[in-house]
Amino acid sequence: MSILNVKTNPIANQKPGTSGLRKKTRVFQEPGFLENFIQSIWTGIGGAQGKTFVLGGDGRFFNAEAIQTVLRMAAASGAARVIVGQNGLLSTPAASNLIRKRKADGGIILSASHNPGGPDGDFGVKYNIANGGPAPESVSSAIHAATEEIGAYRILESADVDLSEIGIAQIGRMEIEIVDPVADYAALMEEIFDFDAISALFQSGFRMRFDAMHAITGPYAKAILETRLGAGAGTVTNGTPLPDFGQGHPDPNPIWAKELVDVMMDPDGPDFGAASDGDGDRNMIMGRGIYVTPSDSLAALAANATLVPAYKDGLSGVARSMPTSLALDRVAEKLGIECHETPTGWKFFGNLLDAGRATLCGEESAGTGSNHVREKDGLWAVLFWLNILATRKISVAELMADHWQSYGRNYYSRHDYEGIDSGIAADLMQGLRAQLPDLAGRSVAGLTVSNADEFAYDDPIDGSRTEGQGIRIHFDGGARVVFRLSGTGTVGATLRVYLECFATEALDQNPQDALADIITAADELAQIEARTGRKRPTVIT
Ligand code: G6P
Ligand code: ZN
Repeated sequence: MSILNVKTNPIANQKPGTSGLRKKTRVFQEPGFLENFIQSIWTGIGGAQGKTFVLGGDGRFFNAEAIQTVLRMAAASGAARVIVGQNGLLSTPAASNLIRKRKADGGIILSASHNPGGPDGDFGVKYNIANGGPAPESVSSAIHAATEEIGAYRILESADVDLSEIGIAQIGRMEIEIVDPVADYAALMEEIFDFDAISALFQSGFRMRFDAMHAITGPYAKAILETRLGAGAGTVTNGTPLPDFGQGHPDPNPIWAKELVDVMMDPDGPDFGAASDGDGDRNMIMGRGIYVTPSDSLAALAANATLVPAYKDGLSGVARSMPTSLALDRVAEKLGIECHETPTGWKFFGNLLDAGRATLCGEESAGTGSNHVREKDGLWAVLFWLNILATRKISVAELMADHWQSYGRNYYSRHDYEGIDSGIAADLMQGLRAQLPDLAGRSVAGLTVSNADEFAYDDPIDGSRTEGQGIRIHFDGGARVVFRLSGTGTVGATLRVYLECFATEALDQNPQDALADIITAADELAQIEARTGRKRPTVIT
């Protein structure tokens, strides 16, 4: 086996976004595209020599080929060992756990998360550091800088490694350890939650449905929910990971997980419903007849955290991304703990978790997690809910009604305008920015602006500053609208409009009705229809 030194040229647009490098699959399949980026990862982290990495992906189209390329390139650059999930599979939280548990130097996760897969879908590569979390800005920019200077990549000439059997393999001088993707993760979940209480809940006739959306969580959910906790065969639907996710869009929200929503809205439906995304880090929570927004779910988990064995002594603090609703802040205030507000992107929670300043974190984009790993964790959130329901012995609808009664309700919705022209999107944001100095005190659609700014974050741990993280406009009475451009799309620009208002009575309204005035104000401020020609959002969550 010889090491090839292949000459290459920098490829434009290899800058990692909110979560790694994400592109159309066909772009990743172009000669040298994946190789350039992987070599740049090695350069960006100071070389692969002697290092141990964790490697796995969500099983999407091109996963299998890409895994082999990464293995050959790790071997060619002198890595000592790669721990890889059987058949190249690992959910994102399971990869994070393995990096930490095995004290690896880092890990590479192949996934485009909730984006569709397949030859016409998306693919992605994400580098995680030794704490198990996504690479911080400093590492991502070093990797990006390397993509702009690359002149050659190194790759071992070798046959494909058979990843179908658990055990040890070798290419060149590098050892490859093929592990069961589920075992360590399931063991961690058992340490955190009261599995006996959850088993007893299922034994009492409690019915659940988990939609794995043909993505990575199928095997995890079957092993943990059906086999270990006795939820019963058939609890997990769409449980076999498919390269194209069954032609679906593996994003657990009411639009893309409609099949589950329909079942849960049936008066005879299951007691509890949940779904996860392509790589297993997102979650959607439902009860019979009720959808729980990610922001509300985060607040409810924080309020009930001490019912879970791992958090029984309380939370050191909590954190949410800026556009996530303020429901969490109300819980933190009552508990007397710190509540941090970070930019969108799980990587910003890493320092807070490492420093013990936050135990629980979450985002409006269906991500919830804790200090047990350094990624958001879909199945963990589901087990957290089950643990609470098993202990409190109430329904999801009762739990949320009780929560809103105690803390008030932050009505919340996100309106996405996908695939708009990037120039128009930039102008729209610039138009908002230009209005900022004179907004306070102005009346818009009958609401009075109390203050408005563009969010910037000063990391309290490492002192780094991140600017331009979304425009937020607060109104009297606790309402708010936030405008941001997505950092995860692969076509044009996606404008996200995050809408929120606070109520202490009339707690049972349809969120779109409760938010009607703020929706009007948002359009008036940003001129969405006038600028984009769009009469309504592409997706409402
Ligand atoms: C990924 C990241 C999240 C982020 C989400 C939405 O899932 O891991 O941290 O909240 O993308 O990002 P976007 O930039 O598209 O709003
Ligand atoms: Zn994901």
